[in-house]
Amino acid sequence: MCGIVGYVGKQQATPILIEGLRRLEYRGYDSAGLSILTHSGILQTRKKKGRIDEGLFRLTQSSPVLGTIGIGHTRWATHGPPSDENSHPHLDQTGKIAVVHNGVIENFDRIKQSLTGHTYKSATDTEVLAHLIGVHYEKVRKANQGSTDTETSTEPHPLALAVMNALKEVIGTYGIAVVCTDYPDLIVGARRGSPLIIGVGNGENFLASDASAIVAHTRQVVYLNDYDIVTVTPDRFKLETLGSGAASFKISQLEFTAEAAEKGEYAHFMLKEIFEQAKTIKNAFRGRLDKEEGTAKFGGLNMSSAELRAVDQVIITACGTSWHAALVGEFLFEELAHLPVEVEYASEFRYRNAPIEKNTLVLVITQSGETADTLAGLREAKRRGHKVLAICNVVGSTIAREADGGIYLHAGPEIGVASTKAFTSQVTVLTLLALLMGRIRMLSSRRGQAILEALEAVPAQIETILKKSAEIKKLAEKYSHARDFYFLGRLINFPVALEGALKLKEISYIHAEGYPAAEMKHGPIALIDENSPTVVLCPTDGMYDKVLSNLEVIRARKGPVIAIATEGNTDIHKIADDVIYVPACMEAVFPLLSIIPLQLLAYHIAVARGCDVDKPRNLAKSVTVE
Ligand code: AGP
Repeated sequence: MCGIVGYVGKQQATPILIEGLRRLEYRGYDSAGLSILTHSGILQTRKKKGRIDEGLFRLTQSSPVLGTIGIGHTRWATHGPPSDENSHPHLDQTGKIAVVHNGVIENFDRIKQSLTGHTYKSATDTEVLAHLIGVHYEKVRKANQGSTDTETSTEPHPLALAVMNALKEVIGTYGIAVVCTDYPDLIVGARRGSPLIIGVGNGENFLASDASAIVAHTRQVVYLNDYDIVTVTPDRFKLETLGSGAASFKISQLEFTAEAAEKGEYAHFMLKEIFEQAKTIKNAFRGRLDKEEGTAKFGGLNMSSAELRAVDQVIITACGTSWHAALVGEFLFEELAHLPVEVEYASEFRYRNAPIEKNTLVLVITQSGETADTLAGLREAKRRGHKVLAICNVVGSTIAREADGGIYLHAGPEIGVASTKAFTSQVTVLTLLALLMGRIRMLSSRRGQAILEALEAVPAQIETILKKSAEIKKLAEKYSHARDFYFLGRLINFPVALEGALKLKEISYIHAEGYPAAEMKHGPIALIDENSPTVVLCPTDGMYDKVLSNLEVIRARKGPVIAIATEGNTDIHKIADDVIYVPACMEAVFPLLSIIPLQLLAYHIAVARGCDVDKPRNLAKSVTVE
């Protein structure tokens, strides 16, 4: 996915766009660019391959552009490799119109063929869209010649009309911002399938892919819906829907402040977000605990107790880390509510013909609320007539809006590409939802109260584990040259093993795999040698002895072992090379504790290897393409 930002007002646009793009860089960081309109209607564009600070920012320092209106873009390449030419903004044939775009124009080639005589500078679908808008703009301009002042007309603004007419020809997804030299105080924005918000300022207005880009300037935002077109000037904005005139809107207040979107004193966003987890887990359960009845309560499920009681199967669909959280949820729903659960990769679920029974509850889990595969999974379930609940972090995101109900994580913006606080907040919410489903079935209030007590103890326990960061850093340096890593866990800890492996591989580029501990002897043990450490989750619980025997098999082949064990267990040193202790806790909340050392281990290994922790190669924070 990419990030777009627009500004129109009284301040110089360049610094505002650069800062906004820095905040959006986690969405894509192959290249960046901006176009500024001067008061005399001169369009000036600067764009560069590479990261903002090394590329675009230096370019705007060496070759400044002045103006109080502009649009900017940071790119995760889809059509055309990262290069200066393929960077956005892209201009139309006349050079009067500039466009930035997040999304994919699927029929760009057919459109390109239809625009005879046009010449292109890039290999992108966006440049074709810019040319198409330019063609429609010329038609609108000619048709409007001699017409009345567009200020008072109820008709769409000429540039907005040109954008509407162009988008009617488009198949695909877009979040776009468009400027034109004929209107040096106006930006047109539009969305379908890629997020776009309006930041409502005082004598200035903003457009952005997400709120982190503009929260430093305003916390009043309007979330655009699919097919919305917005015309923005310094003092007002006009919202219309493609093909059906004026659109209603609601101004929302952002939950978080600018500080939440900054690293603060941390070296990386990922480290900050790891250290925020005691607070974010509290946010996830705040106001949702019913200690009297030993259950949980949610405001946005939009399902009665009778409807929840009638549920006889749960399907959870997600991607990546959210899919790992779903696997923890599967265990919790089975244990606490005796409900059968299917966990599906969203990219598979959307195309499979999985039989879904009538009283099935479909849950989608997503931090960003924009993951294309998860959105498609939601739409497939709804198409088949099922209620879909979303567990999501980003308020107003596409998935949050299309679900029938849901639960927000309230974790604040997660900027690091490697998801950390979202995972623990997702697991917290799933624990509470499974508790609720259990308590309207056969789970006793006493058992429910015990689970709530265990959950409320987690933030303080996480604080004690975070104090081991320096100790884990030493361990990371010891193992940072490993060729392969294996992560093992049983039952509720198997998904934690998967998540630990994903954290390590996506930020340190070390090959890592997660397995159920007993599965090693069915093949993977062939890979174990002195260069392949194994991290094993071995809490002092009913499976401890079984896990220990799995470890014996690894030690016998000289595989180094790092154990995540329960405080007080001194025996583990007989078999593990290194031990990271976590406080004793109930099995149901052990994932919330045991993932912390795995996140820190991955983080410190990546830093030791000189990797770009917050912007790992080839990745983007939210995968809005299929
Ligand atoms: C996790 O660290 C990755 N960044 C990735 O797997 C991510 O969890 C996945 O793309 C799903 O994103 P979502 O939760 O925003 O839908």
